[in-house]
Amino acid sequence: MFQVNDNFTMLPSSYLFSEVARRVKAYTEAHPEAEVIRMGIGDVTRPLCPAVIDALHKAVDDEGCAERFHGYGPEQGYDFLVSKIVEYDYRRRGIDVSEDEVFVSDGAKSDTGNIGDILSTANRVAVTDPVYPVYVDTNVMAGRAGMLRKDGRWSNIEYQPCTAENNFIPSLPAGKPDVIYLCYPNNPTGTTLTREELKKWVDYCRKHGALLLFDAAYEAFIREENVPHSIYEIEGAREVAIEFRSFSKTAGFTGIRLGYTVVPRELKGKDSDGNDVALNPLWRRRQTTKFNGASYLTQRGAEALYTEEGQRQVRETIDYYLENAAVMRKGLTDAGYECVGGVNSPYVWIKTPDGMTSWEFFDFLLNKYHIVGTPGSGFGPSGEGYFRLTAFNTRENTVKAMSRMAD
Ligand code: MLT
Repeated sequence: MFQVNDNFTMLPSSYLFSEVARRVKAYTEAHPEAEVIRMGIGDVTRPLCPAVIDALHKAVDDEGCAERFHGYGPEQGYDFLVSKIVEYDYRRRGIDVSEDEVFVSDGAKSDTGNIGDILSTANRVAVTDPVYPVYVDTNVMAGRAGMLRKDGRWSNIEYQPCTAENNFIPSLPAGKPDVIYLCYPNNPTGTTLTREELKKWVDYCRKHGALLLFDAAYEAFIREENVPHSIYEIEGAREVAIEFRSFSKTAGFTGIRLGYTVVPRELKGKDSDGNDVALNPLWRRRQTTKFNGASYLTQRGAEALYTEEGQRQVRETIDYYLENAAVMRKGLTDAGYECVGGVNSPYVWIKTPDGMTSWEFFDFLLNKYHIVGTPGSGFGPSGEGYFRLTAFNTRENTVKAMSRMAD
């Protein structure tokens, strides 16, 4: 009889957001009259901007015409998009990234999960806590996590708590991990790290030969000066860091899917004989073998973001969500909640009131106010006693949710 991958059997039976969706479905089926406001998973509500829609229509016409039809594309992305990414997201900010270091994909979730394919299962991993669950769960799947302990931590993963006690700033790891995940602006807390803080992590990785997996999916929400948009703004980061970017929250691509990953040519690890191995060709080999490229249509859509019109439109949408976040911060603070985030991020991270656990607060908000959020404990043990709300709903629903919570 064939055997399954045992690692999967060690995981909690469902992924965090699937569990939230299951509970909300059960509730809405039992209470069809309830007007439920969803501020749980970070899914956007604003439509794609006109520049993208125009480009998508044109691309559909291309696909209907023999001369302009596109079948399989380059696995790492079309030149027309990659060159714009390099120009707008990096060179215009004075950051050194070249075209052959960019790999377009169907999203940052896939890439942050798949990157483990090119890393040894012997690597020790460190994450911040709370953390986007994909980083931990995919390492469990790969066999890097060890055993799940009673305190909710995996025995081979090092956790760097981020709570009100340390102002949500993680300390450097003590256990000399080989691979470190950072996500800034942070999911789930909505907090940021300054240039000086990020420099400590880059320096640490250079000193200890660790790889930094930097998830910059929320970069477009940064509005404050001293918050880097890319890890490559930090000196030496090209030697140690891979950066993940997403068009999901930036441009409303959660449904049509697109992201990209930057793997600098200087970045090298060791093979089991101690020889240097560059990661860029390994990731290229992985992608060309397991991925057939993001669709031509989607890439044409994204290309349109890199125009004056596209940039303006997309900024307007992000500003809309950031204004929602400001409404939430004010509403929650006025109602007596302690919260952080929501300034350079679409997430607001709330301390649960009256010592409620995260899931107790989830049930309370859903049952009493018909508001869906995400329990902080779902993001890791240090998320217990916290709760995440997203600013991705409409203004009307955001205002309504806040007035229900102020009640
Ligand atoms: C979240 O809510 O944390 C994100 O939407 C999940 C994701 O991007 O996969």
